[in-house]
Amino acid sequence: MNFPASDTTSTPVSLLDGAVLVLRTAVPTEKVRLSQLICKTWRAGDLEIGHPVDLPEHPARPEIPRLIPASRMPRRKFANAEGRAALLHSIAHIELNAIDLAWDLIARFTATIRETASETTVRDFCNDWVTVANDEARHFSLLAGILTAHETPYGFFPAHDGLWQSAQDTRHDLMARLAIVPMVLEARGLDVTPAIIKRLHQANRPAEADALEQIYNDEIGHVAAGVKWFRFMSESVNQVPQQAWQQLVKRHFRGKIKGPFDHAGRQKPGFLRIFSSTWIDQQDQRVKKKRILLTFTLYPRL
Ligand SMILES: [Fe+2]
Repeated sequence: MNFPASDTTSTPVSLLDGAVLVLRTAVPTEKVRLSQLICKTWRAGDLEIGHPVDLPEHPARPEIPRLIPASRMPRRKFANAEGRAALLHSIAHIELNAIDLAWDLIARFTATIRETASETTVRDFCNDWVTVANDEARHFSLLAGILTAHETPYGFFPAHDGLWQSAQDTRHDLMARLAIVPMVLEARGLDVTPAIIKRLHQANRPAEADALEQIYNDEIGHVAAGVKWFRFMSESVNQVPQQAWQQLVKRHFRGKIKGPFDHAGRQKPGFLRIFSSTWIDQQDQRVKKKRILLTFTLYPRL
């Protein structure tokens, strides 16, 4: 990638400190390096959770890609090489955001879990989201490597900031964050990725298809973590998880949940069929088997 080698020299003194360090780091390669280092150190038992720290409102970002409103993202066709590169670029941008989202969840909400749970449960929460952050770092690296090999490195195309906006809207409420980010937005990734993988195979792009296959399999686990902790939080405040989720989606999610839905992928995290079958199926009916158009109308809004 064409970025300066490093903009961070600090060493994390705790997990929460490390999470904020990643959020304050602009250079993508350094976000990845730090994420992997913190994960390794945490898993070795060499990091304490630490104490709440000052969180940035917005994570540090590189100068490129240029961020533009989602509505102004250029539409490109999947059929040509530039369109496919731009699609992979938008997914790489989602993965970079996802690194920050995982660390923001740890830094912002570990204290919330601590209010209601034992230290073992708090560590379990941290373990799950450290794994997500580490996966997202790997996903970004994988896609950034492919983009560089195609001479369209990360930063080559514009991107939008819609994903972080969703995080901002739910920054005061762990249940709202879980309801929207993993359980709507990441679950949406499960819906659209199989069709993209199929189209990449048809376009004879097996390396890209394999990369997305790896990412898809990991994302199932990320949605599962979202569902697990949403259930935990719902039960800790005596709410029915299904009803709580629907209410939070109505309150915090702008726009409609669009199908078609990848029920097979969603079912693996025990998600929608169990969680919201009637509600989602009603919306699925409205889609009436419309084909997913692999254009930039859909994916960049994830
Ligand atoms: Fe990812």
